[in-house]
Order: sequence, then structure tokens, then C-alpha cells
Amino acid sequence: MRSSVCSLFISISVLLAARPGDGIAVRNITAVLGQSVTLRCPGHSPVQRLYIQKNAVAGPDFINGFDTARELDVDSQYKNRTTVNRTDLSMEMRNISVSDEGSYNCVVFETLVKHKQFPVYLTVTAEYNIPNVTAVCSEPASGEASCQLSCWAAGGYPRSVVRWAELNLSLMSDNHNNSFQDQNSKTWTINQSLSYHCNQPTNISCSIEGATSETVTICKGRADDEKISLDAAVISAIAVLLLIIFIVSSVYVIRKCCGRRRPIPGDAALEVPLADCHSQPQGRCLQQHPPDLKGSS
Ligand SMILES: *[C@@H]1O[C@H](CO)[C@@H](O)[C@H](O)[C@H]1NC(C)=O
Ligand SMILES: *[C@@H]1O[C@H](CO)[C@@H](O)[C@H](O)[C@H]1NC(C)=O
Ligand SMILES: *[C@@H]1O[C@H](CO)[C@@H](O)[C@H](O)[C@H]1NC(C)=O
Ligand SMILES: *[C@@H]1O[C@H](CO)[C@@H](O)[C@H](O)[C@H]1NC(C)=O
Ligand SMILES: *[C@@H]1O[C@H](CO)[C@@H](O)[C@H](O)[C@H]1NC(C)=O
Ligand SMILES: *[C@@H]1O[C@H](CO)[C@@H](O)[C@H](O)[C@H]1NC(C)=O
Ligand SMILES: *[C@@H]1O[C@H](CO)[C@@H](O)[C@H](O)[C@H]1NC(C)=O
Repeated sequence: MRSSVCSLFISISVLLAARPGDGIAVRNITAVLGQSVTLRCPGHSPVQRLYIQKNAVAGPDFINGFDTARELDVDSQYKNRTTVNRTDLSMEMRNISVSDEGSYNCVVFETLVKHKQFPVYLTVTAEYNIPNVTAVCSEPASGEASCQLSCWAAGGYPRSVVRWAELNLSLMSDNHNNSFQDQNSKTWTINQSLSYHCNQPTNISCSIEGATSETVTICKGRADDEKISLDAAVISAIAVLLLIIFIVSSVYVIRKCCGRRRPIPGDAALEVPLADCHSQPQGRCLQQHPPDLKGSS
């Protein structure tokens, strides 16, 4: 039965190929990867037969359909995925994959000898993920910065290109297309890298079809960086200077006050020099220990 069905399709295609320009426009329909699509054939039921075929290089392949006189043999890859509605002469196809893209024909047999053929072109699309953008910049002490930019997103169809917002084409170089197609799903991973030169802060983002990456700022500007680091340097220099002045004056005070004695760690250290002070001639300790403090100790 299957071979007779096939030979019938081949004879139909030969028949129609011999009479080109029937004046029937190709209807275009679009399906989204993984979702379903319904292919409606023109005509009014009841009809004798409906064949929905897909045009392949080797000739038409039977997808699904019906024949009022007999049961048709549907290939296993379409059996669970397609449902034919005899009332409105349509076929629902579920879980669409990229390989479903192509040209189809509805062959409507009003009677056993009278049929019409309606070409349909099915386009498959798949949305790309949100692109990832990376920027690695080397910012020399003077002159312009050089950044290595890349943008990539997976899972889309058909093949697409990267579009960069805010980038000046004349400052780009070393463009590389590293895009590839997954052999199983037939979806594309789009990947572009390039070098970019700039001397002022630039906010960049990339888009692949409808999906846009986050924004990153490149060439943030040495002027700003230098100002910030200069400010920081001045503040830390002042802090260090103050610290040195404090330490030096403290050491001076302790040495001047306590003479040749080495300070002993612990509470005793505080008391012993004080006691020492009292044994020193008044003139040496007077400035550091005002009379009221001396009196209380
Ligand atoms: C279907 O698409 C093809 C090419 O993609 C175009 O030439 C044709 O005009 C389209 N037909 C309709 C009815 O939109
Ligand atoms: C179709 O579905 C039947 C029953 O649900 C299952 O046994 C069969 O393996 C499926 N065939 C394919 C090609 O998925
Ligand atoms: C076939 O299509 C008709 C008209 O769209 C609808 O009323 C009917 O429920 C469908 N039949 C099945 C089995 O889906
Ligand atoms: C849809 O088809 C893909 C292959 O194209 C398969 O891996 C996946 O399991 C199918 N999903 C369902 C729900 O049948
Ligand atoms: C792009 O860069 C070139 C070279 O620096 C400059 O002459 C041109 O004005 C820039 N174009 C835009 C749109 O910024
Ligand atoms: C990358 O691909 C795009 C689109 O196909 C093309 O415009 C561009 O010139 C390509 N760049 C390189 C370096 O091949
Ligand atoms: C870049 O983005 C930041 C934050 O979104 C904004 O403050 C800045 O003005 C933008 N710079 C330029 C050159 O557009």
C-alpha cells in the first residue's frame, strides 16, 4: 500500500511539474520552534482524499491526510505529531522543529479524477536567548583604550547577526564571526568578537534579533580614574604625615619626659615613669605635668 501511495505522489508531482504557472500563489506560514502550527487547505468538505506532502530533493514525502476509501499509512515521525481534521481540511503539526521548515503541498481530491494542489511554505523561527556581552579593556597611560568585545546568544533560528548599539563602525577592527549551528536542533549560536578603540566613556550593548544584552561602560576614562587616585593619594599622604608627626612628637615627649628609662610594658610602665618624673628636677617635667595634675598624683 505504501509504495502505491508513494508512486501516486511521484506521478502527481511529475504531472504538476509538467504544467508550471498554474497561477496559485505560495502561501507562507510561520511556526515557532517547539510549538504547533495548523496548515489549512482550501476547499470544501466532503472531499474524496486529502494528501499533505512535503517537497524533498528526492520528491514529495507524504506527511498525513485521509482517503474516504481506505486508511493511509503515516510515517512514525509524523504519526504522533500531526492530526488531520476532515471537516476543515486542515492538519495540525505539533512540536515543530527546524527540519519541518520547507515547502508543502495540499493535494485536494474533490473526486478521484479531479484534484487541486496548493503550495504552502512553512518558515520556522526560534527566539534567541538574551545575549551576553563581555568587554576586556587595556587602558594605557596615554592615548586611546583598546577593548576586546564579544557578544553571543544561543538557541535561535534562522541565523542572525550581532548589532552593537553606540559603537562607531570606524573604530572597530578584527571582526570575527564565531557562529555555529547545532547539528541536532539546527538552532544557531551567534557569536561575534571584535576590537574597539575609544578615548571617552561609551555605553555599549548588543542585540541579536529581538533580544538585547545588558549595558556595559567601556573606556571609562583615565581622567576620572587619575583624579580619583590623586585624591586618594593626597588624603593618604596627609594621613601618613599626620601619623608620623604624632608618633615623632609622642616619642619626643616620652623621651624628654622619661629620660634614659626604657618604658616597661603593662600598667607599671605608666606609673614608673610618672614616679620617675617626681624624682627629676622640676624644670624637666613642669611643662608636661601641670601643677594640679602633680598635686593629685
Ligand atoms: C512567500 O514568500 C516568498 C519568499 O519568501 C515570497 O516570494 C512570496 O511572495 C510570499 N508569498 C506570499 C503570499 O506572501
Ligand atoms: C507514538 O506514540 C505511541 C503511543 O503513545 C508510542 O508507542 C510510540 O513510540 C510513539 N512514536 C513515536 C515515533 O514517538
Ligand atoms: C475540525 O474543525 C472544525 C471546524 O474548525 C471544528 O469544529 C471541529 O471540532 C474539528 N474537529 C476536530 C476533531 O478537531
Ligand atoms: C519535541 O521534539 C524534540 C526533537 O525535535 C524532542 O527532543 C522532544 O522530546 C519533543 N518534545 C515533545 C514534548 O514531544
Ligand atoms: C567615528 O570615529 C571617527 C574616528 O575617530 C570620527 O571621525 C567620527 O566622527 C566618529 N563617528 C561618530 C558617529 O561618532
Ligand atoms: C560576519 O557576518 C556578518 C553577517 O553575515 C557580515 O556582515 C560580516 O562581514 C562578517 N564578518 C566577518 C569578519 O566575516
Ligand atoms: C552610561 O550609562 C550611565 C549609567 O547608566 C550614565 O550615567 C552615563 O551618563 C552613560 N554615559 C554615556 C556616555 O552615555
